[in-house]
Amino acid sequence: MTGKRRIVLGIETSCDETAAALVDEEKTILAHAMISQKEHGLWGGVVPEIAARAHLHTLDRLIARVMEESSLRPADLDGIAATAGPGLVGGLLIGLTMGKAMALAANVPFIAVHHLSAHALSARIEHACEFPYLLLLASGGHCLLAIVFSPHSFRILGQCLDDAPGETFDKTARILGQGYPGGAIIEKLARDGDPNHFTLPRPLAGRNHCDFSFSGLKSAVRRLVERRSESDLADDVFTRHIAASLQQAIGDIFLDRLHQAIRQCHDLAVPIQRLVFAGGVAANHNLRRRLKDWAKREHLRLILPSPSLCTDNAIMIAWAGIECANGEKRTKDWSIGARSRWPLPQEPQEPLGTQGTGTGTQETPSTPNR
Ligand code: KG4
Ligand code: ZN
Repeated sequence: MTGKRRIVLGIETSCDETAAALVDEEKTILAHAMISQKEHGLWGGVVPEIAARAHLHTLDRLIARVMEESSLRPADLDGIAATAGPGLVGGLLIGLTMGKAMALAANVPFIAVHHLSAHALSARIEHACEFPYLLLLASGGHCLLAIVFSPHSFRILGQCLDDAPGETFDKTARILGQGYPGGAIIEKLARDGDPNHFTLPRPLAGRNHCDFSFSGLKSAVRRLVERRSESDLADDVFTRHIAASLQQAIGDIFLDRLHQAIRQCHDLAVPIQRLVFAGGVAANHNLRRRLKDWAKREHLRLILPSPSLCTDNAIMIAWAGIECANGEKRTKDWSIGARSRWPLPQEPQEPLGTQGTGTGTQETPSTPNR
C-alpha cells in the first residue's frame, strides 16, 4: 500500500477514446494517457467493431505507461475502476476484462463505474462542489437534467427523447461534409458565422417539462443543405452560418430546459445553488459562456470542468471509482458485466449489484445507446 492516500486506476473504453489514469483521493492526477481513435473519421461516426479492436490494440500500453510514469505496481493500488456502461459493448468488455484481471492478479478491489455518474462527478475533481447540485449533462449519446444528491443518488428531471446534442453536432458536420467528431469542428466554424442567419427550430421550447429533442434540428439542417447547389455548398460562408445557427439553437434549447429545471427544483423543495455543465458538449466555449451569463442572472454558481475533463477521459473514471467505492471493497462489482444501457441510480438509491449480474454482456439492444 502507498501510505494514507488511496490511489485508483481508472480505465475508459466505452466509445472511441481509450484511456487510463491514476488519481488519488486528494484529487491529485498522478498520471493519465489517452488515445482518441482516428479510425472512425472515414465513416463519419463510431464503428463499434473498429472501436473495440482499437481499444484492444492500445489499452495495455496506456496502462503500462501510467503505471511506469507514477512508479507504481498494481499491488500498490487501492482499487481499479473501469467503465461498465452505458456504451458500446465490445469496448466496455475490453476495459472491464482488463480491469478485473488486473485487480484479481494484484488482489485489489474492482469498481464498476457508470459512465454518466463519472461525467456527473467530474466537476468535483477541480472544484469544491457540494451536493446537491443541478446537472446538465450533454454528450454524444446522452442529454439529461438531474439533481445530483450523492455519487449514488440522482433525480432525473428530463432526458433526451431522440438524438443527443453531441450527435446533432456530429451529424450536422457530416451533412456539411466537415468530418468527425463534429462538435469541435462546428464550434470553430461558428466563430465566423451569423447565429441568426438561419431560423432553426427550438423543439419543445416553453413546454413545462425538462425533456429534450434535437432530431428536428438535424432535419432542418439537412433540408437547408438539400436546397443548396454544389457551388453554394463549397461556399464557406454558408457552412459557417449553419454552424453558428445550430450552436445558437442548441444553446437556446439548453437555457429553455434549464428554466424548467429550476422551476422543478423549486416545486420539489430542493434548494439549488450550484449548476454543473458536463459531458463532451460542455467543452464548447460558446455554450459555456452562455450558461455562465445565464447562471449569473439566476444567482447560481456555475461549475465547469476543464474542457479536457468534459470529453471522455479516464481521470473522471478513476475519480468516480474513489467517490463511489468510498473505501469499501464492493464485492458485488465483480459480477457486473458490460451494460450497453444502464439507468442512473435514482433516488431512493438502488444498490449497484441488484441491477443484473454476470460477467458477460447485459441488456444489449441492436443499436448502441450511450
Ligand atoms: O462525453 P463525450 O466525450 O462522449 C460521450 O460520452 O458521448 O462526448 C462526445 C460528444 C461528441 O458528439 C462531440 O462532437 C461533442 O461531444 N463535443 C463537442 C465539442 N467537443 C466535443 N460538442 C460541441 N462543442 C465542442 N467543442
Ligand atoms: Zn462520455
